[in-house]
Amino acid sequence: MRVNRKIGMMVAGAAVTAFTLSACSGNSNGGGGGGSEGGSSDSEVEVFTWWAAGSEKAGLDALVGVFDQQHPDTDFINGAVAGGAGSAAKDLLQSRLQANDPPDTFQAHAGAELLDYINAGQLQDVSSLYDEFDLREAFPADLVDLLTHEGKIYSIPSNIHRANMMWSNASVLEENGIDPEKTYNSLDEWFADMDTLQDAGVTPLSVATAWTQVHLLETILLSDLGSDAYTGLWDGTTDWEGADVTAALEDFEHAMSYTNSDRDGLDWPEATQLVIDGNAAFNVMGDWAIAAFEEQGKTLGTDFNAAPVPGTDGVFDFLADSFTLPVGAPHEAGAEAWLETISSAEGQTAFNAAKGSIPARTDADPADFSEYQQTAIESFAQDTIVSSLAHGAAAPVATLNAITDATSKFTSGASDLAAFQSELASAVGTD
Ligand code: GAL
Repeated sequence: MRVNRKIGMMVAGAAVTAFTLSACSGNSNGGGGGGSEGGSSDSEVEVFTWWAAGSEKAGLDALVGVFDQQHPDTDFINGAVAGGAGSAAKDLLQSRLQANDPPDTFQAHAGAELLDYINAGQLQDVSSLYDEFDLREAFPADLVDLLTHEGKIYSIPSNIHRANMMWSNASVLEENGIDPEKTYNSLDEWFADMDTLQDAGVTPLSVATAWTQVHLLETILLSDLGSDAYTGLWDGTTDWEGADVTAALEDFEHAMSYTNSDRDGLDWPEATQLVIDGNAAFNVMGDWAIAAFEEQGKTLGTDFNAAPVPGTDGVFDFLADSFTLPVGAPHEAGAEAWLETISSAEGQTAFNAAKGSIPARTDADPADFSEYQQTAIESFAQDTIVSSLAHGAAAPVATLNAITDATSKFTSGASDLAAFQSELASAVGTD
């Protein structure tokens, strides 16, 4: 509970296009019932996520499998919009919400991102469902705090992911004289091995489009600044213009110099795939990546390894997906059925076993999860928890968007480091 209290404090401090529509259960529609009036029908539920393909869709499918058993009379309508981290989904969702055309339920991150929707009056209070489904004791109290505003609870968590993970290809490292199980205490040690790889003509580090570069940036800030000063970036106690941040941005620039040149045209699955296929040595990505390795028959400890991003051991860079009941949802009863499944022990076990995340429920049995997930469960219980920037926990969507724009400008060579730093400071509103 000590750890969970930390999550609450942290994020409270921070509170400051491909398009895929397909259907399971033999049903389909064009998405959205239209109109501002909510409906009570449970004939169907349109579930809006960005889990549209690959291992993420496999996770969603596992959840839908439980949903179909628990609610056989409610058709699941898949409103998934492709694009990792919601890079395309969130904009589309915003247009739909503003046009009073909400889906029946949508994915939203616990923390500052959820507060955006709450402040815009787009979400209904689901406290009564916590009573109906007996959820008040099921989740860590401080996670529920992140979903609560002025005494009302606005979403139900499905999972917890760790963002500060480094994935590596064992053969690539071995062939280049690097112990595949090596862990790194600092970025400098890691950069030294990446120099070796680069000299040998291997791509040391894979990355993809802008949001994955922000993901890398957040883990480098965390590594260099440490958890307290990283958290201070979001509650105003760390100076974005300070020399420590400059040094971290220099390390980010250095890390980017090891990456694949086609990065801007890729999304996270392709960047992780470069490591899976042995075309790059390392990738920094949240632990949804493990589902991609495992889906392709790769074995942890043999084919690939996972370790905290160098210099972040003992810190769990946290994010949680949760599901909402939007104002004006056309099929409220269908949405409630979905919320019941995603919060149930069966739903969370099936979903998280496939997704690579850990259950938000505290009563899940670790034995039902993989070796990696068991380490994540342990780490979540013991480590210092900090909030992810790229995944909605640390900062509002507008701040994240401004940071993403500044990062793209910098990594594409359109701004220098000093300009980058002052744009980041303006993005967070501390300059
Ligand atoms: C995160 C989300 C994860 C995973 C990831 C990559 O924002 O919370 O569940 O989907 O994006 O798309």
